Amino acid sequence: MKYARITGTGFYVPPKVVTNLDLEKIYDTSDEWITERSGIKERHFIDWETKEEGPSDLAVPAVQMALQNAGYTFDEMDLCIFATLSPDAYFPGSGCFLQAKISPESTVPMLDVRMQCSGFLYAMSIAEMYIKFGRYQKILLVGAEVQSTTIDFSNEGRTVGVLFGDGAGAAVVEATEEPVGILSTHLYTQGKYAESLWVPEPTTKRRPKVSSDMKGLYPYMNGREVFKHAVTRMTEAIWEACKHQNWSPEEVNVFLIHQANARIIEAIAKQLNQPMSKFFINIHKYGNTTAATVPICMHEALSEGFMKQGDKVIVATFGSGFTWGSAALIW
Ligand code: UT7
Repeated sequence: MKYARITGTGFYVPPKVVTNLDLEKIYDTSDEWITERSGIKERHFIDWETKEEGPSDLAVPAVQMALQNAGYTFDEMDLCIFATLSPDAYFPGSGCFLQAKISPESTVPMLDVRMQCSGFLYAMSIAEMYIKFGRYQKILLVGAEVQSTTIDFSNEGRTVGVLFGDGAGAAVVEATEEPVGILSTHLYTQGKYAESLWVPEPTTKRRPKVSSDMKGLYPYMNGREVFKHAVTRMTEAIWEACKHQNWSPEEVNVFLIHQANARIIEAIAKQLNQPMSKFFINIHKYGNTTAATVPICMHEALSEGFMKQGDKVIVATFGSGFTWGSAALIW
């Protein structure tokens, strides 16, 4: 059996920075509230007034960076998995649009994953299995989101509206004989909480599919419920990954936790009795970029020297679905 190692990462965020002070002009909110409750100071939004950009557009530079860092072209990939909750179109998947933009004559299979904030983790797990069992040698993973166009800018939307941002990340996963890379993944879903964090419309359940008076076109979140489950479930998943590898949390060098709220990460660190210095944080710059968060964290943790080759790394995510899980890696 082979091992699945990440050999190149990349990321991209659109240039437009939206600070908490900018949001004070839109909502009844304050920099102080957003900073204290979430740790977010700013996020990036696409500039929808000047051009149309979907997640597949944001993914292009992220993918190019990841491929360059791994030393491959797109056409050398055996598979590409695209994780997003904000697809360019109702169908086909964003992967198809990405492929058309990056290599129009390519026939690399493109697989879209719709597992929200856990999307990239699910993509890692699929890549792990395809590579470990020898079906594919090189897989490109993408997480990309454009959420700013779905945010409710009326005051009703302020709780969700201050948390999310746009961005993209990518990683190349390759087969190796060495016992390193993605050692295990642990995935969970509990659909009974689907409506605790969701966008109800448009829906296929009725006609017309879309109308201007629809209330459900914006994301709804039961913030307190999501918060509570996020802390409990990610802590459980981290313990599971550690036990599976026979690692104690003390042995783990780096925790890459989904960046939904800095207080969630602090609560997990406390439950594991681990110092915050082992937890990578970039939420202050990007907010919650859902499926793009993990690859953006991977890229920045590496380029900032926070994470290095040989490190024992635990990834954990939680999001709409509810979906959650963890991965254990030796980088
Ligand atoms: O990726 C996974 C998905 N997302 C998450 O994991 C997020 C999970 N949830 C959270 O991060 C937190 O629940 C929030 C940051 C969303 C909210 O923080 P909270 O400490 O749970 O606040 P809350 O919802 O209990 O609201 C506290 C107060 C309320 O006012 P009252 O009822 O106490 O008078 C809200 O109306 O804060 C008010 N509030 C705001 N105030 C200023 C809610 N949103 C805002 C806002 N600005 N943007």
